[in-house]
Amino acid sequence: MTTYRIAVIGGTGPQGKGLGYRFARAGHTVILGSRAAEKAVPVAEEVTERLVGVDGAGTVTGAANAHACEQADVVLLAVPYDGHDELVAALPLAGRTVVSCVNPLAFDKRGAHGLVVDGGEGSAAESAQRLQPDATVVGAFHNVSAVTLWGEQDFLDEEDILVVGDSPEGKEVAIELAAAVTGRPGIDAGKLRLARQVEPLTAVLISINRKYKIHSSIRITGFDH
Ligand SMILES: NC(=O)c1ccc[n+]([C@@H]2O[C@H](COP(=O)([O-])OP(=O)(O)OC[C@H]3O[C@@H](n4cnc5c(N)ncnc54)[C@H](OP(=O)(O)O)[C@@H]3O)[C@@H](O)[C@H]2O)c1
Repeated sequence: MTTYRIAVIGGTGPQGKGLGYRFARAGHTVILGSRAAEKAVPVAEEVTERLVGVDGAGTVTGAANAHACEQADVVLLAVPYDGHDELVAALPLAGRTVVSCVNPLAFDKRGAHGLVVDGGEGSAAESAQRLQPDATVVGAFHNVSAVTLWGEQDFLDEEDILVVGDSPEGKEVAIELAAAVTGRPGIDAGKLRLARQVEPLTAVLISINRKYKIHSSIRITGFDH
């Protein structure tokens, strides 16, 4: 297994913290990023505390977002869609593999729904690629719940991670990282533009979660790992 140095942008939120925990648990080095380094440090300490006794766990530290990127070869974007473009444009991402789990969602009286990005011709992941042409952007981890990530299971072995991207090498990184979460490689689900389908699919899962009081996710049938 390749071990990566992974910066988690938005690493103080539940999704970034949960994925950071899973990556470090599998031996990767994780730097949790924040707009304020002093906010990231106690979250990194909390994750480190959870890793006590886990054989082969990687280290988890906290840093300001840009500083976290500079220390990493892989950058996970785990920030809200609101403010995403401004943040992504300002980060030092050139030459790095960037994994986006950002879901452009909105909530109203009828529940969660996907936002239309670029008149239906875009997605958060595609925006990140447009804003950072010298980075390799892929989409993954959109449909896994932060609650489950921070839960007690060794692996979320009933779930699959869908990976979309235009670079086979970039997708291979996310496919490999998925094993830290589910215990199995992620599934190559097609080109980056399919993030337009994968991102808002999370609104359907949120609707199911609210109805049945569960933390649902995605499993692809007919696939023999
Ligand atoms: N929560 C889930 O179960 C889940 C599941 C799948 C996918 N996702 C996706 O993962 C992303 C993160 O989800 P989350 O629930 O962890 O979000 P969150 O708690 O709302 O935000 C995560 C972190 O992003 C930073 N942030 C907030 N507003 C920002 C802004 N305007 N500009 C820059 N940074 C900002 C904050 O960190 P600092 O204040 O420390 O900078 C915050 O702790 C979202 O796009 C979401 O759709 C979430």
